[in-house]
Amino acid sequence: MNFNFNDDSLASAQKMDEADELNSLRSQFVFPQNSQGKQQLYFAGHSLGLMPKKAKVYVDEELSAWGKYAVEGHFLGKHPWLSYHENITSSFARLVGANESEVVAMNSLTVNLHLLLVSFYRPTQSRFKILIENNTFPSDKYAVDSQALFHGFAPNDAVVELKPRTGEMIVRQEDIEDQINKLGDSLALVLLGNCNYLSGQCFDFNSIVKAGHKVGALVGFNLAHGAGNLFLTLHDWNIDFAVWCTYKYLNAGPGGIAGAFVHERHLTNKDIPRFAGWWGHNKSSRFKMGPQFEPIPTVESWQLSNPPIFQLASLRASMELFDQATMLKLCQKSQKLTKYFEFLLHKNIESEVEVITPSSRGSMLCLRFKNNPKKWANKLSENDAIVDFREPDIIRATPVALYNSFVDVFQLVQILKEVR
Ligand SMILES: Cc1ncc(COP(=O)(O)O)c(C=O)c1O
Repeated sequence: MNFNFNDDSLASAQKMDEADELNSLRSQFVFPQNSQGKQQLYFAGHSLGLMPKKAKVYVDEELSAWGKYAVEGHFLGKHPWLSYHENITSSFARLVGANESEVVAMNSLTVNLHLLLVSFYRPTQSRFKILIENNTFPSDKYAVDSQALFHGFAPNDAVVELKPRTGEMIVRQEDIEDQINKLGDSLALVLLGNCNYLSGQCFDFNSIVKAGHKVGALVGFNLAHGAGNLFLTLHDWNIDFAVWCTYKYLNAGPGGIAGAFVHERHLTNKDIPRFAGWWGHNKSSRFKMGPQFEPIPTVESWQLSNPPIFQLASLRASMELFDQATMLKLCQKSQKLTKYFEFLLHKNIESEVEVITPSSRGSMLCLRFKNNPKKWANKLSENDAIVDFREPDIIRATPVALYNSFVDVFQLVQILKEVR
């Protein structure tokens, strides 16, 4: 989409808010306040999303059900706990562009990554390499290193890091495909974050999957920064598996339950190993407590334990808002908001800041300040604007389409303007 901004006035930002059909969703969220009770500007939804007002209502409902029914709450009440995770399924399917059989809310992000690596990283003596980004989130690196070790391979040998060209910050799409082709039949798995957590770069899913499959590798994505931020069609892109968390763009609260996707072509493949637990067992015979694991013929078979109901309850509140807004409209707004943010930065403080994030991105901008980056971060914090600072010099700031406005973006840049 092409947006041409030329007006950096407050009136122009207000006009865009008035014309924004998603603007009213903002009132469904609780914004943080400073010690004097003043509402803060919030630009850290890439780290922890805001609390939907309904989250408290839905968690309270389950606390009441616990008090009222105790163990019977698994079967009684408005939303019996036995099937509570199923309340999320259709929303997750819409969120990531999948069939309902392919998505599940379970565990936490790194746990899901390990569980799916057990199934989809099955190295042989000749095909054992994993391709990741070089500036991947540390937990992802620890996970793949430990998986390589677990299978008897030295991480230095098995884990290959994609690097940007010398002097560049961003990995070029053609370099990813070249690297995949170069690794060829030694490549077991491509595992990328999308978007990248530090640069905000978003890769082209479709061509990466095609390139990976062409050389016989499997392709998985960590969508910690993608789910709820990008328009996704995981099923049609033929992605083998994906995992994501729900506490960032999905607003389910700290440590929220995570998500997983496994493409339907793998769901009933008996050759795929899986770590099993009773919650993945055939629902109709689960309580017969038999000794033999019988997998549910959906991705639910990767579940291990009965899920945390309070976390599912807060996630349910947020997913209702995603369903109301739709990812298509959210992504359209998000592109416009972020482009507007970039326009204001260029117009007002261009000589001071470099926008690292390329145009292939979600809503987050990663900014590198040329002089004394800490000073800029401190100024924002002193003026009640919440962003995050990554050593040594990166500020990440995200206007989130569900709850940020054009006026929010205007105000953020006004604060930055005063630093000079
Ligand atoms: C890309 C990425 N991977 C992994 C993690 C770790 O997540 P968790 O602590 O939920 O396992 C994060 C957390 O921010 C992340 O951004």
